[in-house]
Amino acid sequence: MTTRHSKDLAGKKAVVTGGTIGMGQAVVRALTDRGAEVIYTGRSENRLAEAQAALDTPLAHPIRSDATDMAAIDALGDQVADILGSIDYLFVNQGVAEFQTLEEVTEDSWDRIFDVNAKGSFFTVQRLAPLVSEGGSIVFTTVSNDQIFPGLSAYSGAKEAVAAFAKVLAAELLPRDIRVNSIAPGFILTPTMGVAELTEEQRSEFIEQGNASTPMGRGGTVEEVAAAALYLAVEATFTTGLELPVDGGFGQGIGH
Ligand SMILES: NC(=O)c1ccc[n+]([C@@H]2O[C@H](COP(=O)([O-])OP(=O)(O)OC[C@H]3O[C@@H](n4cnc5c(N)ncnc54)[C@H](OP(=O)(O)O)[C@@H]3O)[C@@H](O)[C@H]2O)c1
Repeated sequence: MTTRHSKDLAGKKAVVTGGTIGMGQAVVRALTDRGAEVIYTGRSENRLAEAQAALDTPLAHPIRSDATDMAAIDALGDQVADILGSIDYLFVNQGVAEFQTLEEVTEDSWDRIFDVNAKGSFFTVQRLAPLVSEGGSIVFTTVSNDQIFPGLSAYSGAKEAVAAFAKVLAAELLPRDIRVNSIAPGFILTPTMGVAELTEEQRSEFIEQGNASTPMGRGGTVEEVAAAALYLAVEATFTTGLELPVDGGFGQGIGH
C-alpha cells in the first residue's frame, strides 16, 4: 500500500516483534512503504520466508527469534545493534490467545500465554529500550478489554499486564524523551484472528461473533491497525501512556 506520506521515514529504523503475519506484517509494510528500515521477528521459518517474499523490499530484515526465550531476546538485541545501530520505533506486537474456560486453564497453558504476551513483551523492551534513540517511541499491542470475552481470562490478564507495563514505562522513559503507548485492537481480520490453532470453522464462527458484537458491524483490517500504530509511533509527538482502542467501537459502550 503506497501512502500519502511518500518516503518521509527514509533513514528511520524500526523493530517489529511478531511481524510475520497479520497486524505485525502490516506495520512492517507501512514502515517500509514510507522508507524506514525494519527488523521484524517471528518463530516460524516458513512464516518469515513467506513474509519476506510478500514484503519484497530490501528495507525489511527478518530475524527468527522466540520472545519467550531470554537468550533469544538478548541475541536479538545484539543483532539489532549490529544491523540497525540505534532505533527510532519499537513495536512489541507478538502475542497469542487460547480459548479456555476457567476449568480448562492449566499451569502449562497459563505459562505459555503469559510467557509470550507478558514476559516476552517486558523483557524485549528491557533489552531494546537502550537502543531506542532520544525522541523515539515504543508501541505495544494489547487487546480491547473494556468488554469481556468469556474463555480468554489468562490472555486478557496477560494483555492487561502489558497495558500496565506501557503506562509505567511511559513514566520511566520520559527522561529519555521516549514515548510509550499501546494499541488495543478489537476483532481484526488476521489469518489467525490472534488465536492459537483456530480451525477454519472456528474462524468463521469467531468472525460472525465479532461482526455481531462490534458496533461498526465488521472486523477491522490490518491496515487500519497499522495506521493507528504508526500514528502513535510517528505522528503523536505529544502523546504518551495512552492505550488507543482500534476496535470499531467494541470497547466503548456505545451499543448498536
Ligand atoms: N487478531 C485479532 O483479532 C487480535 C485482537 C486483539 C489483539 N490481538 C493481538 O495483536 C497481535 C497481533 O495479532 P495477529 O492476529 O495480527 O497475529 P498473530 O497470529 O497473533 O501472530 C502474531 C505474530 O507473533 C509471532 N509470535 C507468536 N509467538 C511468538 C513468540 N514466542 N516469539 C516471537 N514471535 C511470536 C507470530 O509468528 P510465529 O507464529 O512465527 O511465532 C506472528 O508473527 C497479537 O499480540 C495479538 O494478541 C489480535
